[in-house]
Amino acid sequence: MTEKANFSNIYKFYDLINTVLTLGFDKSWRKKAVNNLIGTSVLDLGSGTGAAFDQLLNFETTAVDPDKKMLELNTFENKVQGFAEDLPFEDNSFDNVFCSFVWRNVSDTNKALHEVYRVLRPGGKFVLLDMTRPKNPFLRMLHKIGTFTVLHIIGLVTLNLKEYRFLYNSLDFYPQPEEHLNKDNFIDLKIERMGLFNFVYLAVFTK
Ligand SMILES: C[S@@+](CC[C@H](N)C(=O)[O-])C[C@H]1O[C@@H](n2cnc3c(N)ncnc32)[C@H](O)[C@@H]1O
Repeated sequence: MTEKANFSNIYKFYDLINTVLTLGFDKSWRKKAVNNLIGTSVLDLGSGTGAAFDQLLNFETTAVDPDKKMLELNTFENKVQGFAEDLPFEDNSFDNVFCSFVWRNVSDTNKALHEVYRVLRPGGKFVLLDMTRPKNPFLRMLHKIGTFTVLHIIGLVTLNLKEYRFLYNSLDFYPQPEEHLNKDNFIDLKIERMGLFNFVYLAVFTK
């Protein structure tokens, strides 16, 4: 993946766009994803503005994100600047790594997966939630037309066409999660689909 989005340009609208793209279901999907967490500590990877704050209230959460402007708006108390590919934490630091709507933006997911494994304690959970394309070719075409139209209109209206085009393209950066995600060193991996046309996936890895 060579293209890069400068999230700093769109940080103010980011949560709104996420809600539009997920048809308002993002909160309920995060809630469902959080049900898979164990223990007490969570690393919210690619935390952004802290959209998962309400769902992670009962955990000791550390937010990590590479984008300074996103972190300035982030509502978590513990905030650290960093990339998924090079996490600034000791080995076996967290009971869980929670990662929502980030993975398709990560340039080197193999490296990031190794880092997630490293910072998780044995038995820990990596809970990964993201958008992709529907599996069914007809629904995939409808999804492409819908996301193309919505994101390009928002890009034009907010004068950030490049960033919104990146978001549109990011849905196709990686193959379907069932093909792309692998257990690697983890002992277990479960993937399920959610949402209209099944364009959202939830993957739960166990270390
Ligand atoms: C769509 S936001 C997701 C925010 C939040 N997790 C949520 O549930 O809405 C994507 C976030 O991923 C971050 N991001 C992009 N590349 C990243 C990377 N390589 N490592 C960690 N975070 C990254 C961006 O800065 C941005 O804040």
